[in-house]
This record gives sequence, C-alpha cells and structure tokens, in this order.
Amino acid sequence: MDKKEYLKHEVQHINIKTFNAVPIIEQFEKTAFQARNLARAARIYDAMLADDDCTIILCLAGSLFSAGLKKIVVDLVSFNMVDVIVSTGAIIVDQDFFEALGFKHYQGTPLADDDRLMSQQIDRIYDTYIDEEELRVCDMTVKEIADGLPARPYSSREFIRIMAKYLVKKKIGKGSVMWATHQMGVPIFVPAFSDSSAGFGLVYHQWERKKKAHVTIDSVKDFLELTSIKVASKATGLFMIGGGVPKNFAQDVTVAADILGEEVSMHKYAVQITVADERDGGLSGSTLKEAHSWGKVDEGAEQIVFSEATIAVPLIASFAYHNGSWRNRNQKEFNAFLDGEKK
Ligand SMILES: NC(=O)c1ccc[n+]([C@@H]2O[C@H](COP(=O)([O-])OP(=O)(O)OC[C@H]3O[C@@H](n4cnc5c(N)ncnc54)[C@H](O)[C@@H]3O)[C@@H](O)[C@H]2O)c1
Repeated sequence: MDKKEYLKHEVQHINIKTFNAVPIIEQFEKTAFQARNLARAARIYDAMLADDDCTIILCLAGSLFSAGLKKIVVDLVSFNMVDVIVSTGAIIVDQDFFEALGFKHYQGTPLADDDRLMSQQIDRIYDTYIDEEELRVCDMTVKEIADGLPARPYSSREFIRIMAKYLVKKKIGKGSVMWATHQMGVPIFVPAFSDSSAGFGLVYHQWERKKKAHVTIDSVKDFLELTSIKVASKATGLFMIGGGVPKNFAQDVTVAADILGEEVSMHKYAVQITVADERDGGLSGSTLKEAHSWGKVDEGAEQIVFSEATIAVPLIASFAYHNGSWRNRNQKEFNAFLDGEKK
C-alpha cells in the first residue's frame, strides 16, 4: 500500500446535536455498574451547568481529538458549557492546531505493518494514522509563531491564545477548539506544553537563538493563573476526561490557594472518565474520594466512570446539551480576566 491508500478514510468528529442521549441516560439510571455511574456523572455535570456560581474546568488527556471527540469540545465551549480547559499538549497542538492547519487524522488498524508505516512517514495511534510530514508543518508553525514574539516567558495559556489569534488572522481552523475558545474567551492551559508538537517548534526556536533572548514557557505562571481563577470563583467543578497531568494540575489549585492564604472551597463537583484504576497508587486512577483527604475535592457530588472516553463522553455531553441547563449560564471570559481586559 502506498501512503495515499493508508491515509484515505478520515476520522469524523461526533456531533452531539444529532442525537439525544437524555432517554438512554434516564434508563441507565435505573440499571447498575458503569451504566448507572455514567448516568450519575451526567447528572453531576448537569448540576455544574445549572449552578451559576460554578466555574467548570474541563481536563483532557489521552488521544481524544484524533479519535473523533474534537467537535464535542468545540460545542461545549461554543454553548458556554465550559469555562476553562486544562489539557495535554498532544490534544491541543498535535491534534487541534494540526487539524486547524487543514490536516486530518485517518482510520487505520492496530494490525498494520509498523515498519512499512515508518518508511512511509505515517505515525500510528492504535487504529488511527497521522502523516508525520504534516506534523512537521505543525511543529514549524509553532516555531514561526515563537519567532515573531518578543522574547520573554509566556504561560502556555498566553502562548495558546496567540496561536488562536494566528488562526483567526489567517482565517483558518474555524471548527477548532482554539477558534471556539478565542470567540468565547475560554483559557486553555497545557502545563506540560513542551511534551508535544509545540516542544519541537520551541526547541528549534531556542536552538537557533543559542544564547540570544528567546521565548520560554513558564508553567509556574500557568499555575498562578489557574489558581487566580479558582480564587475568583465562588465554586468550581471538574469534568475530567482521562487522568495524567491535567487531572492533578486542576485539582491542585485548591492547595495552591491555601498556600497563598486565600480561603477557597474544595472543588464542589468532580466527574472523571477513565480506564485507570486505583490499585497502582498512580494519579490517573486515584479516586475522587481519595482526593478529599488532600483537600481537593468535596464529598457528595463526585463520580468516576470506568469507560473508554470515546464511548462515555458523547453520551454525557449529549445529555447535558439536550437537557439545556447551560442556556441560562453567565459567560465568564477568563482570558479577559487574566489579561486585565475585563470592563
Ligand atoms: N497520546 C498521544 O498520542 C501523544 C502524542 C504526543 C505527545 N503526547 C504527550 O504525552 C503525554 C501523555 O499524554 P496522554 O494524553 O497520552 O495521556 P496519558 O497516557 O498520561 O493518560 C493519562 C491517563 O488518562 C487515561 N486515559 C487516556 N486515554 C483514555 C481514554 N481514551 N479513555 C479513558 N481514559 C483514558 C488513562 O487512565 C491514562 O492513564 C502528554 O504530555 C502528551 O502531550 C501524547
């Protein structure tokens, strides 16, 4: 097979507006196991949306957008169902910004000949393919953006906001999460920003400048910015898809605020969709009940759903969209708040 044949069937993004998950969630509620847990998680997310005091933080890990979940996040942002995003770099740069530049992800198979894929410059994520040559364009676009900026430390949020402005200026990437967050003033934090396509571009940017002044990413600034959102919010809710760094980073702001001497409540609501469990003591599978012992998550409105995200997230998001509690929410526009633009 040549490259064109491998990269033939595009991954399509799920559209939660085309199906109504309310009836199935209502039936799940009367069952057991993960179906009932999923229904409870959907209700908790809906309660966050109905609580106008609640700032909703969406945490993203795993290869979600390459697997067809991008439009769901675009819709959650566009319909004011999310106020802040904390993510891995792979999702925001390698997948969202990448598709915004006009590239696609393709359906493949885990049984592929990986040596053949490598020789054709095709990368594989389980049963999907990516054109490595296109990823290099993504890396170099990040470098081009960094090259055009004043040399100073930026939070990943500031840098991503500049990337979104780049798309808007070029009139590309209208269906991307970056574009939607630009419209809605929703900040995106990527605490491990260099561990992605962005890292390749920024390494090249710094290597070319050697000892000259260059752009750096300041993850402490990210932490301070996210903590200041927590301090400014009466209540907070976490909608976590996957685990990893985004899960911990978002949970930790309660402790950071405490260290700063600010009186904040624990996260009032918390939902996590994950395939990890608690036996290994790792963060990704740690229970939300356990997080209470650390002073991070309040008791009563927390739920883990043990499910692969491509199955559970469309159901929860469609339920919340069709239930409509988001219709009366105030738009929080935290980008303007952080950049001192609020009237
Ligand atoms: N995933 C990629 O293809 C990829 C590509 C380039 C760079 N990276 C970088 O690698 C680092 C790790 O990222 P990661 O996104 O692979 O996360 P990860 O592997 O650290 O995932 C964290 C946890 O999330 C859960 N999880 C992941 N996918 C899930 C799914 N589909 N459904 C349910 N739960 C799921 C698992 O419990 C996992 O332990 C990040 O810094 C990222 O930028 C990842």
